[in-house]
Amino acid sequence: MNLTVSGRRDVATGVIELVLRRDDGQALAVWAPGAHIDFIVGPGVVRQYSLCGSPADRAHYRIAVLREEAGRGGSVAIHADAHIGSSFEVAGPRNNFALEPADSYLFIAGGIGITPIIPMVSAAVASDADWRLLYGGRQRTSMAYAEELEQLGPRVSIRPQDVDGLLDLDAVLSRCVAGTLIYCCGPEPLLAAVEDRCERRQLMSSLRLERFQARQPVVGGVDTDFEVELGSTGQVLSVPADRSILDVLRDYGIDVMSSCEEGVCGSCEIPVCSGIPDHRDSILTDEEREAGDRMMVCVSRSRSARLCLDVKPGEPR
Ligand code: FES
Repeated sequence: MNLTVSGRRDVATGVIELVLRRDDGQALAVWAPGAHIDFIVGPGVVRQYSLCGSPADRAHYRIAVLREEAGRGGSVAIHADAHIGSSFEVAGPRNNFALEPADSYLFIAGGIGITPIIPMVSAAVASDADWRLLYGGRQRTSMAYAEELEQLGPRVSIRPQDVDGLLDLDAVLSRCVAGTLIYCCGPEPLLAAVEDRCERRQLMSSLRLERFQARQPVVGGVDTDFEVELGSTGQVLSVPADRSILDVLRDYGIDVMSSCEEGVCGSCEIPVCSGIPDHRDSILTDEEREAGDRMMVCVSRSRSARLCLDVKPGEPR
């Protein structure tokens, strides 16, 4: 789907907000808080951006893009090329970070990780839930939407690091009442710190994270050969130790959708009919890994000698 940039503005130092709409004026696909789109920056360059506007606005998507000088070039290209009237191919929305119903929420955001949290906060306000937001960033000027959020009152804590230091995760987690769901998005050190605290406090089942970079280091076994059986036909393909399932499926003409190819976006998810996946993605929860009924074939492998996947030759997924 091609979308046109209908608005662009600076929302923090190094962060632009883009508003996107369809050229034909048709409504955009429905989405819910936590969803992201795949933004096709150029050939083979795809980046994921959380939708940070209102799901009720079916005419526009709103995203915020941090210019990452040390990144792989996608955000720098968007800052250079996305102007009002520019057109980009977009896929999705897709949601790996859905807001589950709860009476109480703790939202923790670091830097540009505030973007998926904004519609979650709006949903929590609308549902009359008890909620808190802890939002950290390097400096106040680098924190997108800080002013807008601050207007929501004392439930919001804005904590620029140059003034307040690192986020006091222990303090905020110690005040979590039973049944609180914890949603966290931000840079990897913040996510790792929140995971660590939640593990120690036995809060892991309440924690929901979204990563836009692969977990470091990726947890997994030694790479070995294994077989993949196509559930529909029984055809068996060999996956050598140095190749991904995604690569092998493509060799056989199976058009699996992919985007990040790092196990963070969820676009290459495939149902598993039998066998034991060796999950190496940064999306599935421990319970979902345990269930073993789906996997991200760009990075994940197999613990069993053979995995049966629900794909058909020649059928785009
Ligand atoms: Fe993104 Fe596999 S392509 S998770």
